[in-house]
Amino acid sequence: MSFPQERPRRLRQSAVIRRLVAENSLSVSQLIQPLFVIPGERVTLPIPSMPGINQYSVDTLVEEAKTLVGSGVLAALIFGTPETKDANASRAYAEDGIVQRTCRALRETVPELWIITDVCLCAYMSHGHCGIVRERSATGAVDNDSSLELLAKTSVSHARAGAHMIAPSDMMDGRIGSIRAALDEAGFADTPIMSYAAKYSSAFYGPFRDAQDSAPEMGDRSTYQMDPANLREALREVRLDIAEGSDIVMVKPAMPYLDVIRAVREAVDVPVAAYQVSGEYAMLKAAAERGWVDERRAVRESLTAIRRAGADLTITYFAKEFAKLVR
Ligand code: PBG
Repeated sequence: MSFPQERPRRLRQSAVIRRLVAENSLSVSQLIQPLFVIPGERVTLPIPSMPGINQYSVDTLVEEAKTLVGSGVLAALIFGTPETKDANASRAYAEDGIVQRTCRALRETVPELWIITDVCLCAYMSHGHCGIVRERSATGAVDNDSSLELLAKTSVSHARAGAHMIAPSDMMDGRIGSIRAALDEAGFADTPIMSYAAKYSSAFYGPFRDAQDSAPEMGDRSTYQMDPANLREALREVRLDIAEGSDIVMVKPAMPYLDVIRAVREAVDVPVAAYQVSGEYAMLKAAAERGWVDERRAVRESLTAIRRAGADLTITYFAKEFAKLVR
């Protein structure tokens, strides 16, 4: 059968029939909102390159989290900027560290919220790299194995402070195994790990690094984050993370890597997350501000495309906005 018997347009003639045959749908319950916490009190600091997104002190972040939950977004990914940075990232695993204090405050006042913490050292290191910097070796200046202990310590301190789920974003080899073992040993066998499994060395993290003041002082992250040219390597990273104990695997960024999301979805049977990163948000916002794209439609379309590619969960700075849009 073909034209004139076949007419695909028959199933597009009204919104009702289009929705009846839609292959994918979006729900707020699949979205995770990133939240930035900075030192101070009563602070709400807009991020210039991410219109609509702020950095909060612990007290105002808690209020924002209440609003989020009220709008239907029940999961947040917490990023901290510490009071001070040093060569051992000591504020990353301090009991009274900024993320730890945030977790405690959220647990107390917003019990409905699923708290995910980003685990990385870059914002806590004076040099801005994601691990301990030693003398240059074959794989660059960032030393893999000595960084694992700090990442594990940081993860345990987040869990102890009340984080429901740990999200390591550093891209050191073997970190999921170290973190899993440390969590289990500390009595957090039930705390899941969502690993940034296929995290690319991407220009699209620019606005985030400005906000977090976490750009590396020297060099870049290409000796540990993935080369944008590679797809097979993403599958290898994902398999390794699952073997080491990852419960959810993430692909990041999202829109330029839809093929990777699809390939990962087909290769594994754990949930797949996608991170629509700061640069993706900034591009859409900038074009919308100029009236060059319709923001509502572009947001919906980009999130639908990420879902169609195979993402089960999506981390997006549009989560709150999308929740309002569908109300
Ligand atoms: C920390 C981290 C980064 C992002 C998430 N965790 C930045 C980086 O790797 O440089 C990027 C998030 C975004 O751009 O929205 N390592």
